[in-house]
Amino acid sequence: MNSPRLKIAIQKSGRLLEDSLALLKECGIGVDNGKDQLKASARNFPLDIFYLRNSDIPQYIEDGVAHIGIIGENTLVESGKDLHIAQKLGFSKCRLSVAVPKGTHYFGPDYLIGKRIATSYPHTLKMFLERHHIEAEIHLITGSVEIAPNIGLADAVCDLVSSGSTLFQNNLEEKDVLLHSEACLVTNKQLSPEIQDILDQLLFRMHSVLEARKNRYLLMNAPNDKIAEIIAILPGMKSPTVMPLATEGWSSIHTVISESRFWDIISQLKTAGAQGILVIPIEKMIL
Ligand code: PRP
Repeated sequence: MNSPRLKIAIQKSGRLLEDSLALLKECGIGVDNGKDQLKASARNFPLDIFYLRNSDIPQYIEDGVAHIGIIGENTLVESGKDLHIAQKLGFSKCRLSVAVPKGTHYFGPDYLIGKRIATSYPHTLKMFLERHHIEAEIHLITGSVEIAPNIGLADAVCDLVSSGSTLFQNNLEEKDVLLHSEACLVTNKQLSPEIQDILDQLLFRMHSVLEARKNRYLLMNAPNDKIAEIIAILPGMKSPTVMPLATEGWSSIHTVISESRFWDIISQLKTAGAQGILVIPIEKMIL
């Protein structure tokens, strides 16, 4: 009997593909062939990869063709499928927003009453409009939604915004955010114990990679009489490691801190007497 293999669906092309493959690689999963094929198998982990159209992935997972997938929350919400988000992945952050031509007097969602709104997200937009008891015309457009107001096809758009440059180029202004989204690992809710076991191994690896990405290993030297003050500044996982240096009266302090906190405390550390500060990326972090 063949041993069970976990089947993961990822984008065939698009903004999630590269980061999805990079994450698998950082999880120690080697995949030989590229995205030109429909299917690839991992060399050293019981995982088969299906390269599929983004919008088809939720359906394939619901049908059990794939057990899990990497998609944006925007795609999951739009699909309306009842899948489980096993892990948010921290990349492809964006939002689904309503935007209108610059200078429009947009006074809130009620502005949209009776208006024509172009979108590739009709389901999510419909839910938003219903929540606000708004009747409006939804125009389904599958690409280049942002040009719709400029060619007289719509009064507003509802589309993904990441850097905001597409809106800017099309002279549009973001007004209401329908949802915030990032890439996530979604799963079918009914997995066999064997498949769940492989998924748990994959999640363990992903978790250690994602934690490592968020943190930095910090080393610095300080005179011994400054150690207490420096430790009070450090928001580490646990208490830092303090080791004596060869130079009498000096120590080396090591800790792990969140990348987002580092820039907040760096000047405090220097003021407190820390010297030779090194910030080092962490490859894997197992909590
Ligand atoms: C999305 C969206 C916008 C753009 C926004 O398209 O439809 O066109 O990104 O990003 P920005 O705020 O950084 O300019 P995407 O590139 O995902 O491809 P799509 O046209 O297939 O939706």
